[in-house]
Amino acid sequence: MQIAIRREPIDGELRVAATPATVSQYVAAGYAVTVEKGAGVAAGHADAAYADAGATLVASIPLSKVDVLAHVRPLDAATIAKLRKGAITVGFASPASELDAVAALAARGVTAFSLELIPRISRAQSMDALTSQSLVAGYRCVLEAAMRFDRFLPLYMTAAGTIPPAKALVLGAGVAGLQAIATAKRLGAKVSAYDVRSASADEVQSMGGTFIHLELDASADAAGGYAKELAADRADRQRELLAPYIADADLIITTAAIPGRPAPRLVTAAMVTAMRPGSVIVDLAAETGGNVEGAVAGVDTAVAVAGGTVTIVGMKDAPSTMPADASRLLAQNIANFIALMTVDGALTPDFDDEVVASSCLTHEGAVRHEPTASALADRKGAN
Ligand code: NAI
Repeated sequence: MQIAIRREPIDGELRVAATPATVSQYVAAGYAVTVEKGAGVAAGHADAAYADAGATLVASIPLSKVDVLAHVRPLDAATIAKLRKGAITVGFASPASELDAVAALAARGVTAFSLELIPRISRAQSMDALTSQSLVAGYRCVLEAAMRFDRFLPLYMTAAGTIPPAKALVLGAGVAGLQAIATAKRLGAKVSAYDVRSASADEVQSMGGTFIHLELDASADAAGGYAKELAADRADRQRELLAPYIADADLIITTAAIPGRPAPRLVTAAMVTAMRPGSVIVDLAAETGGNVEGAVAGVDTAVAVAGGTVTIVGMKDAPSTMPADASRLLAQNIANFIALMTVDGALTPDFDDEVVASSCLTHEGAVRHEPTASALADRKGAN
């Protein structure tokens, strides 16, 4: 059985779905591996390293003959149209936003596995690509903030005087947020954080952050450890209660997200203008609607405030800003997931396995992920 690794076609996407190390694992398991030339160059892997690991290098992937296609970004219509019936794909599929692609995968008879749908259970931790990529993103957000900040992060007591530590505020303390807390802490900032989930207070404290409790009557816990969207009046109240903490912060990292929904708005333009000049906000959710009003993905925006400006950094392709380690983790997540489904050198999904069944998006012409199937049906009904 053949596994193909493509060169990601999207500008700015520097990650790759397999490293030479995972290619060796596939070869040892009995797969033939085809790698598109140049696929790993931006992540630090030359074609020769893949060849040494046992892959065949090709100028372009023969999509109509591929058994298994591993990818990073969701597949586009032209790629899906070339896949054969019964082909298997493994990668990020963004089912909530890529409904056309999901419909095309089903229509084509492709068995598509979406890394976003791998359940957050202990047994699947080694396959959890959302977690590994959020770790990279959370770390990087703090570095982006620190590089734009015109002051030190740590406390310095010098003969010329004492420099107080910077105050970092992390909004949204999921995987990326917790990593941001840990990174800001390591750099010496005074870190506080907030999240709507009830479990997050302990998690924030375990990373060395101070948790901010807001009086928001009830928690917003949803299934699977995720948060649910706040009703409009509670979201207003949340912003009102957060305002003094935002005004007092030097660096703000926002990472709040609701699966399948636009990012919640936590910081308004008025809240930004109340900040001190020189402060920096990094919005990791800029690509999905933005936690911060005025954030534009891939752009730094200077907002005029009394005495200077506040910089809003709209993060874009955050994991791809560190393609080597992001790919290393992602490729191993994919390899672990493929290993779970491998029997005698062939990818043989066992749909009685919770991890396999939950992460399967399309199979034998059907959309198996119920929320995506409903979204497609709703869209059809609306047209
Ligand atoms: P995510 O990327 O969906 O959201 C990021 C954070 O934003 C979440 O912590 C969420 O509670 C928060 N958020 C949403 N709306 C908010 C609002 N209005 N104000 C403030 N914060 C808001 O979440 P992520 O990082 O993917 O993690 C989701 C959950 O999964 C967490 O509970 C995490 O501990 C859990 N998890 C479990 C794993 C396992 O057991 N294997 C592995 C990874 C994560």
